[in-house]
Amino acid sequence: MRLFLALFLVLFLPAAQQAPRLVIPLHTERSSPGDLEIGGELAGIPFGSTRFLRYDELLQFPQQTITVTDDNFHTPTEISGIALSDLAKVLGEHANMIVAICYDSYRSNYSPEYLEAHGPILVLRINGQTREHWPTAPNGDQLTPYVIAHPHFIPRFKVLAHNDEEQIPYGVTRLEFRNGDHIYAPILPAKKWRSDEQVWNGYLIAREDCFRCHNSGGEGGTMGGRSWQLLGQDAVKNPQRFRTIIHSPETLRPGARMPAEAAYDAATLDALVAYFRTFAPDKPIPDPGVKEPAKP
Ligand code: HEC
Repeated sequence: MRLFLALFLVLFLPAAQQAPRLVIPLHTERSSPGDLEIGGELAGIPFGSTRFLRYDELLQFPQQTITVTDDNFHTPTEISGIALSDLAKVLGEHANMIVAICYDSYRSNYSPEYLEAHGPILVLRINGQTREHWPTAPNGDQLTPYVIAHPHFIPRFKVLAHNDEEQIPYGVTRLEFRNGDHIYAPILPAKKWRSDEQVWNGYLIAREDCFRCHNSGGEGGTMGGRSWQLLGQDAVKNPQRFRTIIHSPETLRPGARMPAEAAYDAATLDALVAYFRTFAPDKPIPDPGVKEPAKP
């Protein structure tokens, strides 16, 4: 009997010591406005459909607790939550990218390299408090229903004057677990441009920066209300205005919601012009004008 028990321990203990496989209930119906929508290329779920995670169920999962100071939390703040890469392991076995989509149509794309380097966390508690007690962002916007934060952000690369940009969206309503090739395909420069260093640099910058708010087809954010093809047309029509809009939008459009990239120098702005020009349509497309994005 004793021998049997010893064998049992040797055979089964290592397996038992591994973290238990977490099962997150994916609901087909929304239970409250604070549920987190889940979609993308998920095993067993048709592409384009939505499932829901409930806040109270997410709180049952093991949480990481860290102190952060970033744009959303100006004073040191203790946050707890689930690492996005842990969620991906549980939910998105075939996906290598996570897209966080916000109530104002802003989105952040997390590549595998980004997840590995920066370890972003889906925040569930702020200073130990559940979200009825959360503060607002320094600009007064709601952080709820979900916000993403980092343990400590050290830029991992630099392209011209663009630094690897911290992706810390708030007001996140949906996470998509996706294949990165599908996401980037509509903004990849055409083959003949891929060996052009200036165009390629423009691509690397636009993909991290502009793509959060400007879309190409169904990919990318729509907060800017202006597609990649229209931006291409803008870059051809008036490259100087295009540069100024990126560098200091307020000078041309008082009250602009588009953030200034004041650190972008001439070479960086030129790379963006060179890249976007490759997306200018052959025949001019109608310009609907620049709209104020709708607030929730
Ligand atoms: C955080 C969201 C955001 C990001 C990031 C962003 N934009 Fe915008 N963009 C907007 C919004 C919103 C508008 C509409 C005007 C406004 O309110 O600023 C806009 C408008 C524009 C316009 C038209 C403005 C005009 O007056 O003609 C251009 C061109 C443009 N964006 C280019 C870019 C490029 C290129 C990048 C990347 C370097 C970029 N945007 C990054 C949100 C963004």
